[in-house]
Amino acid sequence: MRVPMIAGNWKMNTTVSQAVALVNEMRHELNEIGNIDKVVCPPFISLSAVGELIKGSSIKLGAQDMYFEERGAYTGEISPLMLAELCELVIIGHSERRQYFNETGEIVNRKVLAALRVGLKPILCIGERLDENEAGRTAEVVTGQLRSSLVGISDLNGLVIAYEPVWAIGTGKAATGDWANETIGLIRRNLAELYGKEIAQRVRILYGGSVTAANTSEFISQSEIDGALVGGASLKSSEFLSIVKQTSEIRG
Ligand code: PGA
Repeated sequence: MRVPMIAGNWKMNTTVSQAVALVNEMRHELNEIGNIDKVVCPPFISLSAVGELIKGSSIKLGAQDMYFEERGAYTGEISPLMLAELCELVIIGHSERRQYFNETGEIVNRKVLAALRVGLKPILCIGERLDENEAGRTAEVVTGQLRSSLVGISDLNGLVIAYEPVWAIGTGKAATGDWANETIGLIRRNLAELYGKEIAQRVRILYGGSVTAANTSEFISQSEIDGALVGGASLKSSEFLSIVKQTSEIRG
């Protein structure tokens, strides 16, 4: 049985004091919800403060990105070693990174390798754009992204995958549960080809893209979907708590 996961990607929102306030609003209730991994991913500069607040709780901390080198003259970058001291997970290859910061499949692959090397658990994001979806190329694009991200990786331990169709992110236009389930099934079949069926069955694959408290059950009730990567709705404590509670109830 795969333990479900709900991860909140706060993106470039919240100052340090706002991040502290947001986590304070939900940490006690969140801590009590069982049978599920609950992750918050605040901006880098709030990792430390949020980490202090959730220390000793069942809430996990994740970063939103990182560089693949461990140290050196890379002004402004954050390294895997720096994150490993602060958090457990790191989002890698988010479509906003690919789109606005020119992250290629090769860069994403280097980041996944670097995260695993220092014991960070990557949440690897893959997903097709609207034009690719409309051209019927979803399977090809998602398969290509998955395989290029995993080059040279023999052990998937700790890796989480998030299927996030780009057209569903931040648009309020979520995919349907059936569509997400089918595509995630395809991702799992690819993992089985690469790593064997048993390992593929153990990897958690989340859906992401306009997940809210109102549509959570549509996704979570699907057999292949192990949770959600939540953007906008993770910035409202009541909404995020509801998503986590529903997931725990449906899958627990
Ligand atoms: P959204 O973002 O929930 O706001 O659509 C999801 C994501 O980008 O991870």
